[in-house]
Amino acid sequence: MAKIIFISSTGDSTEIDAPTGDSVMQAAVSTMVDGIVAECGGCLSCATCHVYVDEAWIDKVGAAPGDEQGMLQFALDPNERSRLSCQIQVTDELDGLVLHVPAAQY
Ligand code: FES
Repeated sequence: MAKIIFISSTGDSTEIDAPTGDSVMQAAVSTMVDGIVAECGGCLSCATCHVYVDEAWIDKVGAAPGDEQGMLQFALDPNERSRLSCQIQVTDELDGLVLHVPAAQY
């Protein structure tokens, strides 16, 4: 289990307990975190699970690999800290992870 904190574009914070082994997207959807749409259910074909990894966590989470980079082109306003949350696996090492939710998802 890892605590994950989602910060909305308006600064609201939502903290969830995410089961180890799930994707961050699965944990967010099952706890109804606002702004994580996840239309494709996690098969890397929609980009509606886009998040920005907090600067303090980017080294631990890592950058998006090539196939994910390709799909991020379809996200709204991606940047160098963008990830698709369905591609981030929850691990104990990510306890306390802070993610920023975009103002909108395509
Ligand atoms: Fe569709 Fe992540 S849920 S790409």
